[in-house]
Parts: sequence; C-alpha cells; structure tokens
Amino acid sequence: MKIDLSGPLLNQLDKASKDFKAAMQREDYRTARKKALECANILRKLAQMIPHQRESYLEKAERWERVARNVEEGKSKKVVEKNGSDEDELRGYIEGLISKSNVKWDDIGGLDDVKKLMMETIVIAGLQKPESIKPWRGILLFGPPGTGKTLLAAAAAGSLNATFFNVKADKVLSKYFGESAKLVSALYSAARDYAPSIVFIDEFDALSLSRSGDVSEASRRMLSTLLAELDGFQDKKSDKLILTLAATNTPWDLDQAALSRFPRRIYVPLPDAKACAEIIKIHTKGLDISKLDLYDIAEMCVERLFSGRDISNLCQQAIWNMIRDTNPSLHKLAELPYDELKRKSLKTRALEMEDFMQAFEKVKSPLTKRDVEKYEKWSEEFGG
Ligand SMILES: Nc1ncnc2c1ncn2[C@@H]1O[C@H](COP(=O)(O)OP(=O)(O)OP(=O)(O)O)[C@@H](O)[C@H]1O
Ligand SMILES: [Mg+2]
Repeated sequence: MKIDLSGPLLNQLDKASKDFKAAMQREDYRTARKKALECANILRKLAQMIPHQRESYLEKAERWERVARNVEEGKSKKVVEKNGSDEDELRGYIEGLISKSNVKWDDIGGLDDVKKLMMETIVIAGLQKPESIKPWRGILLFGPPGTGKTLLAAAAAGSLNATFFNVKADKVLSKYFGESAKLVSALYSAARDYAPSIVFIDEFDALSLSRSGDVSEASRRMLSTLLAELDGFQDKKSDKLILTLAATNTPWDLDQAALSRFPRRIYVPLPDAKACAEIIKIHTKGLDISKLDLYDIAEMCVERLFSGRDISNLCQQAIWNMIRDTNPSLHKLAELPYDELKRKSLKTRALEMEDFMQAFEKVKSPLTKRDVEKYEKWSEEFGG
C-alpha cells in the first residue's frame, strides 16, 4: 500500500498559517513574512507530491508569496489578511483528503460476495434507469480490524476512476471540533465539484455512540449534517455520482439515526481458508511460492483468527526470513556509498514452509473467538 506523506505537510501548513496570523496580530511583520514564505514552500512541495492537485497548490503558493511581498512593503494589515482566509484553509484541508486510488478489485483476496455487491451498487448508480429506482447512496462496511474495509472503498474508487475522499471521522472531529459540520458541507460541495466521487468515512462510530449516550455536541452536529447531505443526494435528480462509504469496527456503537441512513450494511468478515490462500498469493507476488503448501498455511491462518492485515504481516515476516537467510551479510552493505549499493541486487530464493513457521511465532491476531461471534451476531440481526 502506498504511504501518504501529505498529512505531515498539511499539518505543517496549518501551523505555519496560524503562526502567520498570530505574528500579524502582534504586528511582528518579520516573522509574518517568514511564515508566509514557509506556507508557500510547503504548498510547492504538496504540488509536487500530488500531481492532480498541482495547479491548485501552485496557485495558493503564489498567493502566499504575494502575501509575503505585501508584508514586506508594509501594506496594511487588512490587505494582507484577506489573502489567506479560513475558507481557503478549509478547502485546502478537504483537498488534502483526496487521494487517487490505484487499488484494483484483484488486489483484494476473498470477499467475492462483498465485491460483487459493491460492483452492482456502483453500476446501478451509474446506469440510466427509471426514476423510481433509487440507487444506494451510502454503504456501511463493518467487520473486525484489518479485513479489507479501507481496501474495498479504495477499489471502488479505483474502478470508477473516482475522486477518493478519505475522511477519518475522529481526526476531523479533533481538528475541526466546533466547525466539523461546516467541514462536512464543504466536503460534499467538493465531492460534487470533483464527481464522480467516493466519500469514505472511516471510524464512523466516532460520530455516533449509541450506548454511552454522551456523544459530544460537535459529533452530533457533524453527524446530522452528514445525514442531511446523504438525504439531499437521494432527492436531487443529479447524474453526478457521489457514493458515501462508511466503515466501522464497532457497529453496535451506532445509533438508530445513523443506521437508518445506511440501509445497505455489508459484513466484511475474517477470511476463510480459500480467501487466506488468495491473500497470501497477493502478498507474495513476484516471489516463487511453488515450494509452499499454501493450503496448510491458510488453515493455520484461519485457526489463528488472522485478518488480511495479519496475513500481510505474516508474509512480510516470512519474506524477511528468506532474505536474511540468502543475504547473511546484508547489514554490512550499509557501509557502501548509495551509488554502489544501487548497482547490487538482493538475492532471493523460493519461499519455504520454514520461513512461514518462524513468522507465525511473531504475528498474533488481536481477536478472540468471542469477538468474532459478536460481529456475526450483529450481522445476523442488522446486516444486509
Ligand atoms: N482481503 C484482503 N486482500 C488482500 N489484502 C488485504 C485484505 N484485507 C486486508 N489486507 C491487507 O491488510 C491491510 C489493511 O487492510 P484495510 O486497511 O483494508 O483493513 P480495514 O478493514 O480497513 O481495517 P481497520 O478496520 O483497522 O481500518 C491492507 O492494506 C492489505 O495489505
Ligand atoms: Mg480501515
């Protein structure tokens, strides 16, 4: 999976822009100018990292450079401040949530029924159809950690070539506490602009805790705005495709209001033996696995209540065992200059059962049988 490096930069940007405002208020124009240039630099880095947002980041970078010049020329405080407004910041934050997904359905092992269901939903949403046929606008994915919920959402976006907004509900809440409802509106307005879009709301339960009842005012407001947006799309006769996918590990924490807006609730369970074997193949791609007894390993994974994430870790560990075995003096190469290192190649051999047996000692599932039963029970009662 690709690592998202833009997060830290966005945080830096956020901080620099706050520092800028504070400096302006103190009338400390030297610092303000420095901070404005810092914002511009960060935005230029973002422009490089996120090619499909390049234009918009560059435009903002230029705006900050203008701000820096204005500060220098001692222009009035008002002119300067107008350039970096809160709206921009919000929009910037939302645009930072966009990631182009290149996950394909084939990157996901097992889950055939789930994949089929999601594909059908997407196809129905896209097809011309009589008005009375209303496609699902929201799908709830629930299941134990690491079973592929995020992966499924990313594959849905990838297959549609849709803009993928990856929203972590708890993160938004902590960052935009009082303004999280405003953020949701801005989020859906951006989703409309960039349609087809998939809005993926991870850790959905952070918005709606039915049992404790002490859910904060901010999450309540964020949730109700979100639900209103979901309702709104159902009524609007728009051919823009915006699909909301929500994911949770604790579906029993969801309250009735939230559940009722997601009539489609899909259980993403732990993989069975066949699925485990497929996932092992996916995570050992490019390596020789002819010596492995895949089915034996798969059975061991099922017994240990492994999720796809655990299997991915297991494979990584087994691959490392193989690499250490074939390259015993690997660490010594660390002394070589990088150029020389780049000319050498890593030795590999076929993966063996022993690589996996050793790996099993290091990888443990966090789940118990009782946890799994809890999911199955909830699924029977509320899933579908
Ligand atoms: N069915 C699968 N096929 C292939 N790889 C998988 C599968 N399920 C999980 N993985 C691997 O595990 C990683 C974690 O999966 P993912 O992030 O989709 O889990 P999740 O269900 O969203 O977990 P969480 O509930 O903790 O957010 C993936 O990046 C992938 O490497
Ligand atoms: Mg996830």
